[in-house]
Amino acid sequence: MPTVQEVLARIAADVELLKRLLTPEPPAEAETVEATPAEAGKRQRRAAVDLGPIPNYQDEAWPAALSPTQFVHNEAAKQYRAYQIVDTIALPTEDKTILDFGCGEGHVAATLAEEAVKIVGYDKVRPDSWDTMSKGNLIFLSDFQQVAQHGPFDIIILFDVLDHMAEGQHVETLTKLGKLLADGGKIFIRTHPWTARHGGHVYEQINKAYLHLALTDVEMETLGLKPETAIRVVHPMATYEQWFKQAGLEVESKQPVRGDDLDSYFSGPLFERISQITWGGKVDADRAKKIMLNHFFDYWLKRPAH
Ligand SMILES: C[S@@+](CC[C@H](N)C(=O)[O-])C[C@H]1O[C@@H](n2cnc3c(N)ncnc32)[C@H](O)[C@@H]1O
Repeated sequence: MPTVQEVLARIAADVELLKRLLTPEPPAEAETVEATPAEAGKRQRRAAVDLGPIPNYQDEAWPAALSPTQFVHNEAAKQYRAYQIVDTIALPTEDKTILDFGCGEGHVAATLAEEAVKIVGYDKVRPDSWDTMSKGNLIFLSDFQQVAQHGPFDIIILFDVLDHMAEGQHVETLTKLGKLLADGGKIFIRTHPWTARHGGHVYEQINKAYLHLALTDVEMETLGLKPETAIRVVHPMATYEQWFKQAGLEVESKQPVRGDDLDSYFSGPLFERISQITWGGKVDADRAKKIMLNHFFDYWLKRPAH
């Protein structure tokens, strides 16, 4: 037999649930409501009608997604990028044990290994580069079970990984990583959402900003364009912070990395398209601007003190 308090708590929870179900529009304050990547995908398919002609994305005046200096095609450029990352993020590496989760080919891990006591580079894919890069204080693993044996870690890095993880993996993975932290340990995350100017990763095919937001999947396919990013987070801050919370992690700091004010995207038929395709028309220009001009988010996370 439930107590009066339990019954009241259950009613309150049901009322909350009902309220959420009956709220058709996200509130105006932008980053408060999550639209799941799956939802965004559905919207994009639904929006594939009545959008007018495909915008002239070949136009020279259409801004680039990435500047030419940001392309990383050879070994020297990869190493240079790794040094830039380590400098920009200014991780406190000395005497630290670090896990580079989703390390890819390992250039960032190898650069960090010049200062840190011990680095573990982990990725689900095992590239050949690891064989030549690994050394005394730097090991690479593609089996997550083995990672724990090398912890706990003072710093765990997820650089450009969160938005490349498959849908549904985030909370579970972040929960596991939280458990690998040493006392006082922290997780650093840099991520670029789908809504960033290069978030669809079509720049290798055609280097035009936000093109993945202005074209439907069907249109992109027809034009032979293939976005690479695995997930489509269209309300980035709310979505990430919900994952962090569910994983039992606390945000110590967050820093959006913002870009130029590209006004041409926030009015007229181009904006109507972007808004319809990306948010089912439910986001106005001011709010879209707030979201779209965030190229990256940098987060430091920690386990809450008990
Ligand atoms: C864009 S790359 C970034 C690589 C590296 N962090 C860098 O910045 O050079 C994303 C990486 O995340 C890895 N990744 C995605 N999901 C993962 C998962 N669940 N576990 C481990 N690695 C994952 C991919 O294999 C890929 O190497």
